[in-house]
Amino acid sequence: MNNNYIEINRELWNRRVEKHMASEFYDMKSFLDGRSSLNEIELELLGDLKNKSVCHLQCHFGQDTISMARLGAKVTGIDFSDEAIKQAKCLTKQLNLPAQFICSDIYSIDIEQKFDIVFASYGVLGWHPDVSRWMKVAKSLLNDQGRLVLVEFHPFVWMFDRKMQNIEFSYFNLAPIVEQVSSSYTDGSDDKVATEIGWNHSLSDIFMAALDNNLSITRFNEYPVSPYDCFDNMVKVSGGYQFKDLVDKVPLVYALEATSV
Ligand SMILES: C[S@@+](CC[C@H](N)C(=O)[O-])C[C@H]1O[C@@H](n2cnc3c(N)ncnc32)[C@H](O)[C@@H]1O
Repeated sequence: MNNNYIEINRELWNRRVEKHMASEFYDMKSFLDGRSSLNEIELELLGDLKNKSVCHLQCHFGQDTISMARLGAKVTGIDFSDEAIKQAKCLTKQLNLPAQFICSDIYSIDIEQKFDIVFASYGVLGWHPDVSRWMKVAKSLLNDQGRLVLVEFHPFVWMFDRKMQNIEFSYFNLAPIVEQVSSSYTDGSDDKVATEIGWNHSLSDIFMAALDNNLSITRFNEYPVSPYDCFDNMVKVSGGYQFKDLVDKVPLVYALEATSV
């Protein structure tokens, strides 16, 4: 697959920014009033962020990045969507926080700095055909004592159709998944249809990608609850959301911590 997928997905993400910022899902009003967008799962793994240098990969328009800055981190958010980075920079200025933002595809990141923590979360790996390449980038950004903290939707979830009723896609990365979409995980649907290109990654691919890039996996947890109501057919439960017919039965999120070897 050539790099066309990057341009196609960038266009999709650029178009999503304005609607996402106006959505209930991202609830900008409470965020501007001081709400942290970080969830317990990542807060626990990130630990004390005071004076830690953090590189936040695929930061979207920066809510989590800014939330980490509010906790004292020296944080740099990176995303390939120029619309998202433009908005993230405006928010940082408005809130007078020291977060930095760089607009870049993750394979073209051009910074010398090495970080204490590389963080990425909820919907990041699936935009990349080769998860080993993604781990190589994460590893290259870590200092010698650095840690990768990755919190992601479980590959189990990505096997389902959009209605979350039938298994439509392979658990394994057999081929790109190309879909025409007119809505996203927030509440707003779009009037225009756009193309989205993604890939499924099995847990073994993710583990081996880390290990092949000299990242030592130090923690791995699976959770039966998603902090977000972002798929069809979910019900509210204690601590988040689960699929209506599969309460407590399936994994929805995982968290992986790995250190520079
Ligand atoms: C589902 S969002 C991440 C959600 C984020 N955790 C949040 O809280 O808003 C995925 C992000 O990945 C970014 N992205 C996708 N492919 C990318 C790439 N090749 N390089 C850099 N960013 C990319 C998109 O622009 C988008 O902001």
